[in-house]
Amino acid sequence: MLIRRELSEDVDAIAAVHRAAFVPFAVPGREPVESGLVASLRASDAWLPPLSIVAEDTGGAIVGHVVATRGFVGDVPALGLGPLGVRPDLQRSGVGSALMHAVLGAADALDESIVLLLGHPDYYPRFGFVRATELGVFPDVEDWGPHFQARALSAHRPGLRGTFRYAAPFYTLEEQE
Ligand SMILES: CC(C)(COP(=O)(O)OP(=O)(O)OC[C@H]1O[C@@H](n2cnc3c(N)ncnc32)[C@H](O)[C@@H]1OP(=O)(O)O)[C@@H](O)C(=O)NCCC(=O)NCCS
Repeated sequence: MLIRRELSEDVDAIAAVHRAAFVPFAVPGREPVESGLVASLRASDAWLPPLSIVAEDTGGAIVGHVVATRGFVGDVPALGLGPLGVRPDLQRSGVGSALMHAVLGAADALDESIVLLLGHPDYYPRFGFVRATELGVFPDVEDWGPHFQARALSAHRPGLRGTFRYAAPFYTLEEQE
């Protein structure tokens, strides 16, 4: 498996990965919102090309994708992570972990200070995520509770506190289907 940055020819395959990965979470009979979300993020000024990362199998097929985009803690730049998706037949074989390590390493190398995400509290602590409120970062949607998690990177300073806001497309998910 190869982990690398997204190329322009990967766009359709990335959408297909998210459509397949998020079927279990979609409204029955409707497409998962995540592939539209990636397209909207890519078209927005929140898109950071070095932080859109794919996993490619030995046959050249895209089997997983993760992206981090520009968000803000108060008015300080931060990263919002997601979506992260792995083709269903390859889940639980390490692809998601490889993508997470790659995107966090890339963000750290770019001197980003913090990554926020909404995700399962059993999965993300292995990558250094803690409940975001422990770092003084609060969601702008109150009921996210323990699912709202933060990973401090090397450039993080404890003075970075406040309310996090994702890139705009995260707040218009239904309209992107
Ligand atoms: C979540 C996802 C990205 C993980 O990728 P993956 O390649 O399957 O994960 P890995 O093989 O790297 O890691 C597997 C480990 O993660 C755990 N895990 C996977 N998905 C999990 C979840 N939703 N909640 C809790 N733990 C999870 C497994 O139990 C396994 O743990 P173990 O190694 O201790 O047995 C992938 O399963 C997926 O695409 N799921 C559907 C879409 C999704 O839920 N995306 C995340 C949105 S927050």
